[in-house]
Amino acid sequence: MAHIFSIPQNIVTGTDAVRMSMDLMRGYGKKVLIVTDKHMVSIGNVKLLTDELDKISIKYEIYPGINAEPTDIMIDEGVKTYTNSQCEFLIGIGGGSPIDAMKAIGAVVTNGGSIRDYQGKKIEHRLPPTVAIPTTAGTGSEATKVSIITNTKTGVKMLLSSARLMANLAVIDPVFTLTLPPAVTVSTGVDALTHAIEAYTSLKAFQMTDLYATSAIRKIFDNLYEVYKHGDNIQARREMAIAALEAGIAFSNASVTIVHGMSRPIGALFHVPHGDSNAMLLNVCLKFVQQGAQERLCDLAKAIGVYRPGMRITEGADAFVTATIALLRTLDVKTIQDFDVDQKVYFSQIQKMTQDALDSGSPANTRRTPSAGDIETLYKDLWVEGLYRAVI
Ligand SMILES: NC(=O)c1ccc[n+]([C@@H]2O[C@H](COP(=O)([O-])OP(=O)(O)OC[C@H]3O[C@@H](n4cnc5c(N)ncnc54)[C@H](O)[C@@H]3O)[C@@H](O)[C@H]2O)c1
Ligand SMILES: [Fe+2]
Repeated sequence: MAHIFSIPQNIVTGTDAVRMSMDLMRGYGKKVLIVTDKHMVSIGNVKLLTDELDKISIKYEIYPGINAEPTDIMIDEGVKTYTNSQCEFLIGIGGGSPIDAMKAIGAVVTNGGSIRDYQGKKIEHRLPPTVAIPTTAGTGSEATKVSIITNTKTGVKMLLSSARLMANLAVIDPVFTLTLPPAVTVSTGVDALTHAIEAYTSLKAFQMTDLYATSAIRKIFDNLYEVYKHGDNIQARREMAIAALEAGIAFSNASVTIVHGMSRPIGALFHVPHGDSNAMLLNVCLKFVQQGAQERLCDLAKAIGVYRPGMRITEGADAFVTATIALLRTLDVKTIQDFDVDQKVYFSQIQKMTQDALDSGSPANTRRTPSAGDIETLYKDLWVEGLYRAVI
């Protein structure tokens, strides 16, 4: 069986990456729309970028309207700004939210219509040139063919996937991540860990994605706790930035599985940030995944050094699951109750969440195919796990 492996045309990494990428941007056009959030403007990240654009006389319009995980309404507004300002290319700077929004704006600019109608639709026309500059080490959106946009009419977090959504240029400077607060460091870092574990255990995994997934997992086990506790450790931040990139490349080509499938409905209905809903679900879903992925999880135990000679495959898999749950504990990941979700409302939404999770297609990539009943049980387990964590 053959596989297609896609990554951005150019990836610039390391300190000073923004300055170094200007030569490439020069060829993209004379005016750019910078898609971002207000926080990126206030902490000076956007200025670092515009200072470099000024030096090579590229004009810009700033759209700082992505003030939460992106919605169809934010995309409509961004498309208007792009068109009215006569821009020729796009830069997304910030976490996954501005980068996903930038891709979605680009798709609508050349393909028309409303982003609400894009789920499952083929994106026919090439986007204007797109540049992704991540400031979190998590989503990997800078190197994925994915954009996740909430449809406010249906309450569904749409997973848009198309080769057209791969950025032309990814610019990764770990210095941006130094200002990440500990809680965002954890939730985004666990998002990257989830991408890598899901890519490695996906039915669609192949040699190229295995390479990136294992490398990312190793780096995350070695550095995530360190950046949580010592956010100013630039070497550990550098490792995490590359790990997030690698994990993004892995899952963009091998797909995610049950955790992401179940995570998006929680985000759409209860406004739990993406990394936090993944982190709480990873805890609950790994045991389910394990039964269909013993060998793969045993490989990961070897990759992070918790496999001991003589262990059976199932024992190796156990060792990896135990190490992951232990890591999540040390990172103080949040529970569903931490987001003030009402118990009655949560349970009343389980059927919708299950259907939306299955409709996204992600759970079907799991090596143990989950039924609707399995997913409902896991959503219930998530609630119970949160209560249990509160008393220990
Ligand atoms: N396209 C993909 O492949 C992909 C993959 C996974 C997740 N996602 C999506 O990405 C979105 C989440 O992205 P995210 O987790 O990066 O969070 P985010 O972009 O929503 O940012 C979270 C918060 O962190 C702040 N922040 C970002 N960088 C900072 C920095 N350097 N210093 C201080 N604060 C900073 C932001 O202002 C924001 O308040 C979700 O919508 C999720 O569904 C996309
Ligand atoms: Fe994710």
